[in-house]
Amino acid sequence: MPKDGKISNSVIRRLPRYYRFLGELQEEGITKISSGELSQRMKLTASQIRQDLNCFGGFGQQGYGYNVSELRAEIGGIIGTDKRLNAILVGAGNLGKAVALHLNFENCGCKLIGVFDSNPELSNTPIGNGKILSISFLESFCKANKPQMAILCIPKESAKELCDKLVELGIRSFWNFSHFDLNPEYGDEDIVVENVHLGDSLLTLAYKTNNR
Ligand code: NAI
Repeated sequence: MPKDGKISNSVIRRLPRYYRFLGELQEEGITKISSGELSQRMKLTASQIRQDLNCFGGFGQQGYGYNVSELRAEIGGIIGTDKRLNAILVGAGNLGKAVALHLNFENCGCKLIGVFDSNPELSNTPIGNGKILSISFLESFCKANKPQMAILCIPKESAKELCDKLVELGIRSFWNFSHFDLNPEYGDEDIVVENVHLGDSLLTLAYKTNNR
């Protein structure tokens, strides 16, 4: 950890990528890797990698490189993939279903424990190993199960009211796919938000394509 205990946002953003790359190396049966080779694969400089890992005390040995499984386990520990964050998902439409069914929550240190929707036609319909619950059960469910994280797959218009409710119910961590901008609303330092806009990524690609 750095002396002030703060890791920069850009380092935090690179950690999942290290974790993923090291997982792929493990799958390929690679047990150790030189910093040069890792940097080539990841398209980062060796010094960038060293600097990043030094934030957490540094790993690897001069002349040996990195032990892949040890480094992956260390990075997993830093991210907290060994913990289990209980998550709920609200909005079981097209996007919500895709997120609920196709993401490996466990790999990310999370567990999806409930899926909610306000459409009565969806209540009790199967999703994965469970059933979609009516939003009317949200409060009692949260009180009983104390989820730490909410995944929002609802339209923008419903997001503010729902978030206020979820904050009231003790949720402090939001993975927000709704196009409602949560950050300015919840200035509370204790509340963490990851806004996901697939459209932004596509716009970035469009720009790059048009300006090659
Ligand atoms: P959808 O209409 O298929 O699903 C939305 C679901 O949310 C519906 O089942 C509806 O009953 C439910 N819902 C609405 N208000 C609710 C509330 N207050 N509590 C509980 N459930 C509620 O829409 P789709 O395609 O799944 O998209 C959902 C939202 O995500 C849209 O607003 C869309 O703009 C946004 N979106 C965001 C993307 C991103 O990259 N961030 C990508 C695609 C869509």
